[in-house]
Amino acid sequence: MNEKMVKYAVFNNKGGVGKSTIAVHIAHGLALDGYKVLLVDMDGQNDASLFLGFTLQDYKKTFYNLIDERRNTKLEECLIHARDNLDLLPSGSIDLMNTELFRVSRIDLVLEEKLNDLKSFGYDFVIIDCGPQRSKVNDAVLCYVDGIIIPVQLQAASVRAVGNIYEYLSDMRLNSGMIKLIVPNMFDQRTNDSKENLKLMKEFIADDHLLTEPIHRRVKIAEAGKLGKTVFEYDDESARQFLSIVKKVISRYAQEE
Ligand SMILES: Nc1ncnc2c1ncn2[C@@H]1O[C@H](COP(=O)(O)OP(=O)(O)OP(=O)(O)O)[C@@H](O)[C@H]1O
Ligand SMILES: [Mg+2]
Repeated sequence: MNEKMVKYAVFNNKGGVGKSTIAVHIAHGLALDGYKVLLVDMDGQNDASLFLGFTLQDYKKTFYNLIDERRNTKLEECLIHARDNLDLLPSGSIDLMNTELFRVSRIDLVLEEKLNDLKSFGYDFVIIDCGPQRSKVNDAVLCYVDGIIIPVQLQAASVRAVGNIYEYLSDMRLNSGMIKLIVPNMFDQRTNDSKENLKLMKEFIADDHLLTEPIHRRVKIAEAGKLGKTVFEYDDESARQFLSIVKKVISRYAQEE
């Protein structure tokens, strides 16, 4: 049994800001560094799975089968071996999962209970890719994890919307200290707009050690996703940027109890 298993959600209420991209790259980066990682795809569009090259045909059972009381599914039946040191847990029907979770009386305990077996799998990290917006699934994920990683697209509206995440946590009676890293994404060196929004973010985030280096906007990042590859397998330049985020995650891991 592993002594220390740290669980992070990659979350932002806003859609299309890079949650799945960043979840996949943190997960694969940690795995390449020798950590044992489980990536949980809780985004209804299955993007995290697609970015790693897996489609519905590759799924055996999914997280939904674990939540569905009528079936007696074991966690190991759902896992896909995605890369060395990296397993993937696909979500399946996110709408049905939300409906199922409306019936649950203790949303704060439901994932702890359903994923109880995980403790014996020896994972160092569980990285959960969340869908956007408030939902029962996201309520359950945020209650379950030890920390939150927030990708923010470098656009004024996205930077201002970071406040909504703090509000969500407060409504859930969760501590904003759970926010471990904020990752500015889609930085464009050529535009003043990107630089101004990065500056705005630095002003907005009081605790500046939360903020990572920005990930640049690069066509190769989107291309890699479409090919089912990570940038570690496709583009050295982006790989360097993601590795600096991975390093920060590892240093936070070292600080966890
Ligand atoms: N730094 C980047 N440079 C170029 N393209 C990027 C970058 N980050 C993400 N993308 C692309 O932008 C799109 C949205 O990214 P992604 O799917 O990771 O966002 P998301 O927040 O998970 O979206 P959703 O809310 O729909 O789940 C994808 O096509 C992805 O390949
Ligand atoms: Mg996504």
